[in-house]
Amino acid sequence: MRVIAIVNQKGGCGKTTTTINLAGCLAIQGSRVLVLDLDPQAHATLGLGVDPESVEESLYEVLAEPGGTDSLPRVIVEAQPGLEVAPSGIVLSALEQKLALERVESRTERLANALETVHGRYDYVLIDCPPNVGLLTFNALRAASEVIVPLETSPFAIHGVTKLLETIALLSERIGHDLTVRVLPTLFDGRTRYAQKILSEIREMFKDMCFDSVIRVNVKLREAIARGMPLVYFARRTNGAVDYAALALEVASLDPALAETSLAESFEEPGDVPREVVIRFRDPDASDVRIAGDFNGWVPDRGVRSLMESEGSTRTWTKVLNLAPGTYQYRYVIDGEWREDPENPEVAETSLGGKNSILVVR
Ligand SMILES: Nc1ncnc2c1ncn2[C@@H]1O[C@H](COP(=O)(O)OP(=O)(O)OP(=O)(O)O)[C@@H](O)[C@H]1O
Ligand SMILES: [Mg+2]
Repeated sequence: MRVIAIVNQKGGCGKTTTTINLAGCLAIQGSRVLVLDLDPQAHATLGLGVDPESVEESLYEVLAEPGGTDSLPRVIVEAQPGLEVAPSGIVLSALEQKLALERVESRTERLANALETVHGRYDYVLIDCPPNVGLLTFNALRAASEVIVPLETSPFAIHGVTKLLETIALLSERIGHDLTVRVLPTLFDGRTRYAQKILSEIREMFKDMCFDSVIRVNVKLREAIARGMPLVYFARRTNGAVDYAALALEVASLDPALAETSLAESFEEPGDVPREVVIRFRDPDASDVRIAGDFNGWVPDRGVRSLMESEGSTRTWTKVLNLAPGTYQYRYVIDGEWREDPENPEVAETSLGGKNSILVVR
């Protein structure tokens, strides 16, 4: 059972559209799919044809009391053959307050515990998250082993995403479980050259973390939400249905259970042997300098050996990276602010906000 959380604190980037339509395409391709609607707005519930006002119990009852986690099977409603949903409701917005006095551990593990009651019943569990990183999203991240971050293909969409990746990495370290994170370009308008430029920048920046699939702008996807069913069920030849069907195939092919072989294969590539790369940063004023780039999933200092030395008023940070030959993009995170490397003239101008520095390893 693969549990995938659809997360981005930015509103309107296509989380719910992705949850519903990826779920529909996986179900049509023969998988058993459960959607957990963790957003009090209940858009995924509505988009799967279930009226949140008409259900007696929602995920609120499952999460509000420690004993409630057993009630998950009771809450689940069938939306289409092979496609079920655990509905949300506006009352979910009160959950954070209700659980405020409980221990963090107990508050954030509820959803993971609830999923044990349906273990093995589904091939995929997709979790639609609200547009913030609060208690509900933390519950989703604890329950999941994979994360999809929909990223609108527009300028400045990248703002906040690096912070989100950092939060996800910190959380997975704290709870000691690995999360595979992938970025999905959405709302892509291929008619403009600008959008194409942004897409190629997103690909450059996220490399293997980025899906090959791209979701184009397609008004039919809006209609699908209003009709209460994934687009593929009533107009499978539209761009929206085709794009999500391609995504479903790609997600299926990225099954972590199959990853061992591909990892072994990738090690066979000659010339891919990592080597040590050392870069330095000097600044009299900075008190914390970390490095983030496509080589570490844009998570500051992840997988990096870091050393700080003071000499007089100057501080020097030394960063040791292990990188295979190739071209990489990075930035320094200086006291929380993301900046290009002032000593490196090689930069990539991005329309995503600011510049990335370029590092070539031969
Ligand atoms: N590929 C697309 N083409 C056209 N419209 C889209 C597409 N993806 C999403 N939309 C529309 O954009 C709006 C926002 O999408 P959606 O609700 O999926 O985003 P969200 O990230 O879940 O938002 P929120 O953060 O509020 O939960 C909706 O009206 C949706 O119908
Ligand atoms: Mg949503």
